[in-house]
Amino acid sequence: MTRALFAALFATASLTTPAAAKTAFDGVWLFHKAPPTPGVTMMEVTSKGAKIEGRVTTLWYGPVDMMNPRIADGKLLFEARNINDRDHPTRSWSVSLKDGKPHLEGQIWESPIAIDGYRGTAKDAKARAFRFTPLPPLGQTIPSKLAATPPMGWSSWNKFAEQIDDKTVRAMADAMVSSGLRDAGYTYINIDDGWQGKRDASGVLQPNAKFPDMKALTDYVHARGLKIGIYSSQGPRTCAGYEGSYGHVAQDAKSFADWGFDYLKYDLCSGEWFYADADTVKRSYHEMGAALQATGREMIFSLCEYGRFDVGSWGRDVGGQLWRTTGDITDDYETMAEIGFDKNGNAAYAGPHGWNDPDMLEIGNGGMSADEYRTHMTLWAMSAAPLMMGHDLRETDAATLAMLTNRRVIAIDQDSRGVQGKAVRKQGALEVWAKPLADGRVALALFNRGTEGAIMALAAADAGFTSITQVENQWSGATEATLPASYAVPARGAVMVVVKGQ
Ligand code: GLA
Repeated sequence: MTRALFAALFATASLTTPAAAKTAFDGVWLFHKAPPTPGVTMMEVTSKGAKIEGRVTTLWYGPVDMMNPRIADGKLLFEARNINDRDHPTRSWSVSLKDGKPHLEGQIWESPIAIDGYRGTAKDAKARAFRFTPLPPLGQTIPSKLAATPPMGWSSWNKFAEQIDDKTVRAMADAMVSSGLRDAGYTYINIDDGWQGKRDASGVLQPNAKFPDMKALTDYVHARGLKIGIYSSQGPRTCAGYEGSYGHVAQDAKSFADWGFDYLKYDLCSGEWFYADADTVKRSYHEMGAALQATGREMIFSLCEYGRFDVGSWGRDVGGQLWRTTGDITDDYETMAEIGFDKNGNAAYAGPHGWNDPDMLEIGNGGMSADEYRTHMTLWAMSAAPLMMGHDLRETDAATLAMLTNRRVIAIDQDSRGVQGKAVRKQGALEVWAKPLADGRVALALFNRGTEGAIMALAAADAGFTSITQVENQWSGATEATLPASYAVPARGAVMVVVKGQ
């Protein structure tokens, strides 16, 4: 249905000529990228004297300003930067005009293209191209009953991206058990993007050839005392360009339930232009939340819209148990720290059955030092963040395993009170965080974000106490009766303690 609509939409596009065009390129142009990877790109050009300005808007990534737009040899040339791309690559675009029709060559972010376009209006683009089925209604609040503590498990994306298949998922389930990670609390084995094939004649989404039998796969994972998750997106395409759930929400929810999945991560990719503000995004998530509920199968609902529109304030209402607070993590200290310290969501929204999700773990992937990974784990535990491992579980070395299975650290993350810890003190690169626990004790973390080792001290007041009667070091397990005079915190490292006091 989606493809047919795309085809119909562009076959009947209206031709509107803007008044007072100054260069032949001035105006609004629409380009339709045909199925199987449908997409709409809008190009807007205005010129004032010799100065040309413009922007390109894609269905997936929104508006991006043209850099250095210029006309040479009758062609409009410019560069554009994909703000969502991890490496911020700058792409070159070239537009020529033939018989009044534009021909665009370049890279629409995910693949090189050469397509003909037509003149349109921005109104066309939004009203007709970017939103062509009625908005789902905003139904009743869906109770968020699962995930009394932050979900723990593994997800395929950080390590395997699209190179994921049935065999690897089974191997991860086996490794989760044999490594002892399952027994430390990691329950979910989540398939991220890249499992999807095509829809059959009745619109039912089939897995691709790498996943020959989804029911057999979920049975295999369940037989190991684990749960299993799957991924989709609310737009026509997922972030990696696979079939999304747009127009097939109830059908897909039913497939996920029938296959035996326990968890859905639902991404905004390519839905960004249909669902471009708080109201529409919320409706879209509600549509899937209600569809999951209607299946009768209990499934965790993980919202992945990068923290837009104050998602924490409504994530629970649409049936969500966790919601991403940021763009994607990468396996480097700078990105991890930016997310974990500064983009981990409003702590007031977190608590039992609803969690801020600063994205999956990179521990074990090799891009950070032991101290940096310790900061990663400490920060996620202090934040009551979901703990979704993102490495190859078969290759978990002893140090990584010790870090991921430290029962004391996990207990802070999983504390039943569900408070998201936050900074109580900051001085330059040094931060002290506190997280009150269910038993009245308080977890404290000392973070050194600087590149030199630092000497830091704790005070009873950091925990809201006037005196301290016991200090337990969460990483080492060592217990003392009083706070030490100071702690040596390595560069980009962390210390974590739990204090008892009054
Ligand atoms: C987005 C999400 C990632 C991952 C990819 C898959 O970028 O934020 O976590 O799911 O899509 O394509």
